[in-house]
Amino acid sequence: MKDAQPRTIRLEDYRLPDFLVDSIELHVELGDEVTRVRSRLALRRNPAAQTVDAPLRLDGQQLVLGSLALDGRELAQQDFHYDGEVLRLERVPAAFVLQSEIEIQPQLNTALEGLYRSRQMFCTQCEAEGFRRITFFPDRPDVLALFSTTIVADRARYPVLLGNGNDVERGVLDDGRHWVRWEDPFPKPCYLFALVAGNLESLDDAFVTASGRTVQLRIFVESKDLDKCAFAMQALKQAMRWDEQVYGREYDLDVFMIVAVDDFNMGAMENKGLNIFNTSCVLANPAITTDASFQRIAGIVAHEYFHNWSGNRVTCRDWFQLSLKEGFTVFRDSEFSADTGSRTVKRIEDVTLLRTSQFAEDGGPMAHPVRPESYIEINNFYTVTIYEKGAEVVRMIRELIGAQAFRAGSDLYFARHDGQAVTTEDFVCAMEEASGRDLEQFRRWYTQAGTPLLAVSDEYDAARKLYRLHVRQSCPPTPGQPEKAPFHIPLRFGLVGSDGDLALGEGLTERVLELTEPSHSFEFTDIAQRPIPSLLRGFSAPVKLEYPYSPDDLARLMQCDSDGFARWDAGQTLAVQVLRAHIDTIAAGRTPAA
Ligand code: SER
Ligand code: ZN
Repeated sequence: MKDAQPRTIRLEDYRLPDFLVDSIELHVELGDEVTRVRSRLALRRNPAAQTVDAPLRLDGQQLVLGSLALDGRELAQQDFHYDGEVLRLERVPAAFVLQSEIEIQPQLNTALEGLYRSRQMFCTQCEAEGFRRITFFPDRPDVLALFSTTIVADRARYPVLLGNGNDVERGVLDDGRHWVRWEDPFPKPCYLFALVAGNLESLDDAFVTASGRTVQLRIFVESKDLDKCAFAMQALKQAMRWDEQVYGREYDLDVFMIVAVDDFNMGAMENKGLNIFNTSCVLANPAITTDASFQRIAGIVAHEYFHNWSGNRVTCRDWFQLSLKEGFTVFRDSEFSADTGSRTVKRIEDVTLLRTSQFAEDGGPMAHPVRPESYIEINNFYTVTIYEKGAEVVRMIRELIGAQAFRAGSDLYFARHDGQAVTTEDFVCAMEEASGRDLEQFRRWYTQAGTPLLAVSDEYDAARKLYRLHVRQSCPPTPGQPEKAPFHIPLRFGLVGSDGDLALGEGLTERVLELTEPSHSFEFTDIAQRPIPSLLRGFSAPVKLEYPYSPDDLARLMQCDSDGFARWDAGQTLAVQVLRAHIDTIAAGRTPAA
């Protein structure tokens, strides 16, 4: 039975898992009425947890338990306790094999979590906590196991049976069924498990990795959709090359598959080697698809592919760390889109989403930090703050330490944590070590919610050719956080004169000012004319900014700011100013000038 009271999960209560799973062998027999799942878990006590007599607790959501055996010995009712959510065995050896046989009914599963049917196909969604609806397992991202999955189903209705990793064996049974066994050589948490069965066709291609390995690429759809997969395939190949060139990340299995499914909650999902997409996020052709949809599809295909490293090879320790994989991967897909399309247009789109959705979230009752402290239902935390603000936090790290150190930090992060489940803190540490920069104060971006406000003013002394910029930062209270400490904010800026950017010394026309205190003043000498400050170029930090620009200032920025984003932003600000002025005029009973 479910608790009457919702239970709050707190980051501070995190404990290492008592048991590790070295391997899981799954045998899934798909049926119309009942699907039988047999599993064989190789379990052992986690030496790091130092809980020598802790009971074994496995998650399992409303499973119909057939039988349970420990080291080959069938267990009786009194040997275990199962309440519909947790399977508990009081006394178990230090290492043992637990076998279970359970029954589920995917055709009745409308949660779209776990194993379910979408039209004539079976598919799965296990992030965040769906695997517990398939079999008993420690359903937490810090338990990584080697998976082997055998899928059995009617051969005529389900000719295609897909799992994670490589297909190593297949066969046909006498009763009209067939089976395929998949083995994934990379240990993974169960949220990355996937299984698909259906009457699907595929668009096939291949990709040769930087080190010369050939990877088979397959996009599976219903036959009616086969003419809408070419664009996603092209985007996939571009993303694979880009990740090699920009992050030094190569694909690691012999095959990479995408499946398009009609009923799918999360736009798409990065299951190891077997990404599952909502059809709306993969199918495209020029007859039915707008330019914006093409771009969106390429971005999502890239996003899920990039998770193979930022999420799968290096995964999250717990769900409080969700932004570790999502913030970083959104940043990666956004840079991919910038590199393969228009950088300025992509930035404008991202900032528009941030300002309209994320700032609203951060300013309302749902405001939460990029790394939350507690949750009741993790499915409610797939938010614009975790994803988009999380991406901005990663972007700011690159802004502060520079592109070269950022790449070195990312290399260090992947090398050090490959095969591990880690935290946002581990990510920041790698960036600190690779750059030699202290990001102590910067960490507040992970723990403090709310959108900071920068109030900017300036003075110009023509006689002394001196320009001063004053910046004050503040951040409004958010639920549970009445007081905010100052953030470490990179403010990219330039000074614009009548003909464009002015020199700022040392041959530079642009600088990143670092704000760490509640207020700062910056002084610039040798400024021959009254400049207009071009503030927050490229939207270098997710903040609101106030500066008393005149309409003429904004017109000048629109005309000759060297930063494309800043030109667009000046236009937006000017448009709002003009509209406001017209509203005031109308409110005063007059007619605005044309
Ligand atoms: N993990 C998935 C994604 O963001 C959930 O939507 O790619
Ligand atoms: Zn993602």
